[in-house]
Amino acid sequence: MSESAAAERVRRRLDDVLDPELRVPITQLGMVGEVKVDAAGTAEITVKLTTEACPMRSRIVEDVSAAAVRAEGISTAQVHLDVMTPEQRAALKEQLRDGHGEKVNRFAQPDSLTQVYAVASGKGGVGKSTVTVNLACALAAQGLKVGIVDADVHGFSVPGLMGITDKPTRIDELILPPVAYDVKTISIGMFVDGNKAVAWRGPMLHRAVEQFLTDVHFGDLDVLLLDLPPGTGDIAISVAQLLPGAELLVVTTPQNAAAEVAERAGALSTQTEQHVAGVIENMGPLTLPDGTVLDLFGSGGGQLVADRLSAQLDTAVPLLGSVPLDTALRQSGDDGAPVVISAPDSPAGQALREVADRLASRSRGIAGRQLPLSLA
Ligand SMILES: Nc1ncnc2c1ncn2[C@@H]1O[C@H](COP(=O)(O)OP(=O)(O)O)[C@@H](O)[C@H]1O
Ligand SMILES: [Mg+2]
Repeated sequence: MSESAAAERVRRRLDDVLDPELRVPITQLGMVGEVKVDAAGTAEITVKLTTEACPMRSRIVEDVSAAAVRAEGISTAQVHLDVMTPEQRAALKEQLRDGHGEKVNRFAQPDSLTQVYAVASGKGGVGKSTVTVNLACALAAQGLKVGIVDADVHGFSVPGLMGITDKPTRIDELILPPVAYDVKTISIGMFVDGNKAVAWRGPMLHRAVEQFLTDVHFGDLDVLLLDLPPGTGDIAISVAQLLPGAELLVVTTPQNAAAEVAERAGALSTQTEQHVAGVIENMGPLTLPDGTVLDLFGSGGGQLVADRLSAQLDTAVPLLGSVPLDTALRQSGDDGAPVVISAPDSPAGQALREVADRLASRSRGIAGRQLPLSLA
């Protein structure tokens, strides 16, 4: 029996409901089961979750109810939750893999259009993670599809900076990354209890990053940002191997010592043959309300690193921006609300948005990038 016209209208409204993790209409994911509408205008909708333990269930129920009552003639909506059968789940996984089969690192495929940036620094505490999450959120706010891989496995901090407390949902071995500020984010911190330290050695770390790239469903991304651990260790080399197309963004403070180690991080690119997209200076001079300039860490280090890297790598490495010291930035990190969203017009918010603009115009530029076509 075909559905009533009223039920079809409800179904059409459900096209507007996105799965909170996959960012795809639930109607396209096979999540909507039976839809019935009675004479009084009550819609009964069965929604099939991917797993019983779906952390997003209440959110889905709310979104479905809200969408259903927007259909003409519907006064109330009741949502019944069900769970997909193993066959339905298998079909969904197949659809998500989108012909790529099992265990493929899509970002390493020659046809991948995702711009991958590995955010590196010579030493810790220079604001690498802060810069990563803010660039990601600013790019997502411009409408780009953005993901973050927190590759700082020992010192993960991305979930906290993004205010993410959700655990990733699993569809068997496929992992769905939590989404915050429209950014799909994965971190080892989502798999360990509390703040327990991860005491892994090289090969395990490599495996963790590899798994993030193969088993986590990011869908089609415009930009993927990796927050690397400080220094030039195992992970940086693993990332270069796993993502040969990744470009480095080098974060440094204006201080001389930090600038020098940042240079070493950039010079790593000679070994790994990665391109350095640019240098971002962080904790730069702060202009106080009375006009005086507070340069706690000196100034000019970012430009110095950019110049030296340009000379060393024999290619133009631009300084993409200087982010001032800003209490709004530190506060927003502690609150899990990146400053480009929570205080976009603060000095640091503006500077970070400018860097994101430069990256966005670069990333959009790849649409016109020459394709590796061979002449027949
Ligand atoms: N421009 C800035 N102004 C003020 N505080 C900052 C700035 N950049 C980073 N911080 C703070 O410095 C600390 C270290 O930053 P973080 O991003 O964790 O560094 P990293 O990832 O390089 O170790 C954090 O507490 C962060 O809030
Ligand atoms: Mg960090």
